[in-house]
Amino acid sequence: MKKTVLSGIRSTGNLHLGNYLGALKNFTEMQYDYNCYFFIADYHSLTTHPDPKTLHLNVHNVLAEYLAAGIDPEVATIYVQSDLPQLPELYLLLNMHAYIGELERTASFKDKVRKHAENVNAGLLTYPVLMAADILIHRADYVPVGKDQDQHLEMTRKFARRFNNLYGVEFFPESQPFEEKKEMVKIPGLDGTGKMGKSEGNGIFLNDSDEAIRKKVMKAVTDSGPTVPDSPVSEGVQNIFTIMKYVSAPDTLAFFREQYANCSIRYGDLKKQLAEDIIQTIAPIRERINAIYHDEAYLARVTRQGAERAQASAEKTISAVRDIMGIRRFY
Ligand code: TRP
Repeated sequence: MKKTVLSGIRSTGNLHLGNYLGALKNFTEMQYDYNCYFFIADYHSLTTHPDPKTLHLNVHNVLAEYLAAGIDPEVATIYVQSDLPQLPELYLLLNMHAYIGELERTASFKDKVRKHAENVNAGLLTYPVLMAADILIHRADYVPVGKDQDQHLEMTRKFARRFNNLYGVEFFPESQPFEEKKEMVKIPGLDGTGKMGKSEGNGIFLNDSDEAIRKKVMKAVTDSGPTVPDSPVSEGVQNIFTIMKYVSAPDTLAFFREQYANCSIRYGDLKKQLAEDIIQTIAPIRERINAIYHDEAYLARVTRQGAERAQASAEKTISAVRDIMGIRRFY
């Protein structure tokens, strides 16, 4: 039996080059080895961004991007969170065994309280319970998450253990973070430090136009240039070389490294080349995103099929949970 992997995708924000070459490459490889569920977390976005004008639009965008990037709906199950009616039921039931104290101590909750004191709603407090329900509704073995989600996954295990102990069952698994076998590709930003990210404001997005990409790359942080042969490479320049490693031909990178080593490099040329190579990488995927985005029949078919598969799995879990908890119908 294949192990089950579940991944929740934020419904706000577009994919950038770092996501595409990093996490998404792994998702598309993973889908053949595991029983994968990918869902777009639209309920979660309501805890901070309730906006009827953009909610569906965001889901639509993210869906097109993930499909275009290579998630195969015939292989993996891709669905929208709000298409799973069993999920809010499990969320309600898990809430009965989640303590206010532990929820208030969650780092992400404390952070939101600090930043948005005017909107500390119950959905925000129970965000980890909804996330646990997402994971436990399919009794997932593994969850690929970034560091910032470790505590939420820890709480999911706590809720699962508590449920099992309380009812004397071995029902929910203790879902583990999915450890990458390979080193994860990390794409740096173009602002001289750190990695590419949405919140860092240094991202090149899959829906950026060629012109926008050129502008961003030309503004990349460099330095005043090497003056002696084989001088050490500053972080900004190293970041350009690193991105080149993933988007450019090997001899292009070798050529500029050689020029750097012998001090003849011109950063303007380096950036021009990088911009064109990023465009070569992004343009086909951008076209695919666009085509999928506008193919409403395809999206309807994919999301209906995903919802049906996810519901079948969720139904098994929720009927067992009802049974364990003693919820029974008269009819
Ligand atoms: N909280 C996750 C994030 O912000 C998104 C998410 C929601 C999720 N439910 C999940 C991730 C379940 C993994 C599993 O990125």
